[in-house]
Amino acid sequence: MKDATFWMPPQASTLAPDIDFIFYFIYWVDVFFLVALMGAMLLFAIQYRQKTASDKTHPTQGSHKLEFIWAFVPTLLSIAMFVLGFQAYVDSSVPPAESMDVRVSGQKWSWSYDYGNGVVTDVLKVPAGENVRLTMSSRDVLHSFYVPDFRIKKDVIPNRYTVLWFNAPEPGEHQVYCTEYCGDAHSVMLSKVEVMDPEAYASWMAYEEESSKTLSGAALGEKLFKQNCVACHNVDGTKLVGPALNGLYGKSENLADGSSVQVDDNYLRESITLPAAKIVAGYPPAMTPFAHLTDTEVDGLVDYLKGLE
Ligand code: CUA
Repeated sequence: MKDATFWMPPQASTLAPDIDFIFYFIYWVDVFFLVALMGAMLLFAIQYRQKTASDKTHPTQGSHKLEFIWAFVPTLLSIAMFVLGFQAYVDSSVPPAESMDVRVSGQKWSWSYDYGNGVVTDVLKVPAGENVRLTMSSRDVLHSFYVPDFRIKKDVIPNRYTVLWFNAPEPGEHQVYCTEYCGDAHSVMLSKVEVMDPEAYASWMAYEEESSKTLSGAALGEKLFKQNCVACHNVDGTKLVGPALNGLYGKSENLADGSSVQVDDNYLRESITLPAAKIVAGYPPAMTPFAHLTDTEVDGLVDYLKGLE
């Protein structure tokens, strides 16, 4: 893996060297023309300035040779940029046939990764050296999945799938950003990609697959809570985008419409699956319904929330 440079983060995927080559090609072409054009302008301004009052400028006849050069050379350079850019775009857009699949879901304001075998995580874990195809969708608004170290980025859109892929040759940890403004907590819609040694990945996955079958109740709820809710809800009494959720059960909650509600199992369930039904006073109606959770998962979350002091 190549280290970060002044302009670019470390190259942590097989696509990164190509992208950086194009970046630096365009960069150095730009630097060359900036210096050449600004330099010539300064030089001419000094050399051909009006030195005396009678010093007159003379109209210049055109030069076919000069005009040809300054049209032809930039055309060649632009074509080179297009060809290189198009090639890299196609390479980064079309996943290799031999790829492992992970489903990515964006939701205000977290990412989740579904491996298709019952395992869902909030950190994307992949084995080193493997092609990974991400099929991405959003549960609410437009988000954008961005991993600078891999040089990959694509919009994540509701009711539609977009695809990205990468191959990270070496184990390591890489930052994931949401790079499309998606509301209050957009800036904390962060996640990580953890590239693991393939053997460590296999044993981690085997363990997760087993425990995802057996987990239930508050333990399942706690896991889901950490995956989906912590961007907006704390359990230590502090306010985030949404209210803190500890010590809630049995309490009377004041609602935005002036009424109040006793926090019981049904209220908790409704607030997870249909959050706009009852808005707590002082908070925006910002939460996306978690309608995709199964009954067992909602039961687990309710159990977990009931147990918080
Ligand atoms: Cu999601 Cu910004």
